[in-house]
Amino acid sequence: MGTLRAFDGSLSSHPHDRPAFLMCHPKHYEVDYVINPWMAGNVHRSSRQRATRQWEQLHSALRQLARVELVEPQPGSPDMVFTANAGLVRDGIVALSSFHHRERQGEEPHFRRWFSESGFAVRDIPRVTPFEGEGDALFEADGSRLWAGYGPRTRVDSHQHLTELWGVEVVSLRLVDPRFYHLDTCFCPLSSGDVTYYLPAFDRESQLKIEARYSNKQRIQVAEADALRFACNAVNVGRTILLNEISDELSAELELRGFQIVQLDLTEFLKAGGAAKCLVLRLSELDVTHADRSRIAPPTAQDSAYN
Ligand code: ARG
Repeated sequence: MGTLRAFDGSLSSHPHDRPAFLMCHPKHYEVDYVINPWMAGNVHRSSRQRATRQWEQLHSALRQLARVELVEPQPGSPDMVFTANAGLVRDGIVALSSFHHRERQGEEPHFRRWFSESGFAVRDIPRVTPFEGEGDALFEADGSRLWAGYGPRTRVDSHQHLTELWGVEVVSLRLVDPRFYHLDTCFCPLSSGDVTYYLPAFDRESQLKIEARYSNKQRIQVAEADALRFACNAVNVGRTILLNEISDELSAELELRGFQIVQLDLTEFLKAGGAAKCLVLRLSELDVTHADRSRIAPPTAQDSAYN
């Protein structure tokens, strides 16, 4: 498997290891085309300077909790910052994405190279069954099942490859609101065993699947206004949650469940239809990512990154 790096020891992962994530600098970030409703009206309307500042704040917050690996940004791939779409990782294996839109297919060889040079076993998902990685596939906190979205991007028949790959139960959820075109825009399993989600983003059958597997108390329904602020697009490391700015109500609800909430201004990325979670890909095993570790230092008065 080539040169093995620290997270490749993931088959024997230890909760005391430092969690690892993958990000990509927004050097070439831009809203260049329209492949989701958020991008419409925002073509060439994002500021790279502001985006870079926002990305750096997320990067530095995450680095307080985890090791952050970087993949080299590529000219002509303005959406490559959204590393959550690179693939899905478990047991040192990556299911490499096969993008639905041609606009993003150019990212695939770059992600492939990064994974294989970093010691991951790379498994392809065939082009005929598009799959957009962790953007559309999220493990339950204890790893017992995989929640997999489909509809706008990922094809439901790609899910069988995920079942075969990891022998895990895959629960397919159909996305029906074009604004919530990836599962991670409207659904977020948390380390506490709870879930935040925006119910109307799913068809009735999928809503019932969620209700069957999470108790009433575990389900935190997010209101439309928070969903539109990408409240479900959250990076959860241990008991800390990094996300775009959300309502006081939702933040209080999450704090009540024992989470430290770190709100960051990610508005430049909302213009492309992404926020915190889209900008980050989990590389470590779930027991490592979710081990309860130290919190982020409280913000200083001058620190505009936090409210
Ligand atoms: N503009 C990108 C796209 O439409 C945004 C991707 C957001 N990523 C995510 N994991 N939801 O593909």
